[in-house]
Amino acid sequence: MKKIVIALDGYSSCGKSTTAKLVAADLGYAYIDTGAMYRAVTLYFLEHHVSLTNPREIREALDSIDVEFHYNPKKKRNEVYLNGLNVEDEIRKMYVSNQVSEVSVIPEVRRAMVAQQQKMGKKRGVVMDGRDIGTAVFPDAEVKVFMTADVETRTKRRQVELLEKKQLVNLDEIRDNLLKRDLIDSTRAESPLRQAEDAHLLDTTHMTIDEQVDFVLERVTSQL
Ligand code: C5P
Repeated sequence: MKKIVIALDGYSSCGKSTTAKLVAADLGYAYIDTGAMYRAVTLYFLEHHVSLTNPREIREALDSIDVEFHYNPKKKRNEVYLNGLNVEDEIRKMYVSNQVSEVSVIPEVRRAMVAQQQKMGKKRGVVMDGRDIGTAVFPDAEVKVFMTADVETRTKRRQVELLEKKQLVNLDEIRDNLLKRDLIDSTRAESPLRQAEDAHLLDTTHMTIDEQVDFVLERVTSQL
């Protein structure tokens, strides 16, 4: 059967990764969480005190970074590895969330990640979630969905996610972080977060996960 690229873009914490994982599982496609890649780069920059305004340091850091996904059969999910080390849990912590958008603004970082993402999706048969998949990484994706939800809903969902990882963060801190990231992500010069002209808008505020998955799968069916 024909294999396609499914691009799920949108604001922070509106259900992109949960939806993407389930759509990928349903279709037998690979799921690529591009946010995890930017988070892994951010973790490296933080650990190595890379200056975000020093192009030489940034280039050297990017040359030393290897970001890969490996499937964890126990947890039935892809996990992200930074230079051979599993950083799946570390990259979700607030100190990384608080820096990731500043790192993601840097054009050299974006170029390196986009090139790697394009390689990962070359054979198609992938669901990729992020901010610029339908506009910059795979502008020719057969199915593009742009997801949004109101900020209170997103804040509460994020808190539940963090609690599941035993991270207790108050709602104000989470809301501030989401809004700050949305602002930086949508106003940066290189591949800002925006809805592609041919993307379907999906507001998940009042939707269940099953409804979100069905919405995407219906658009996929019409392409196969
Ligand atoms: O998807 P997630 O919320 O984990 O993404 C973390 C951050 O990574 C985003 O807020 C954004 O700054 C950056 N990002 C990006 N482009 C992508 C995916 C994520 O700039 N394709």
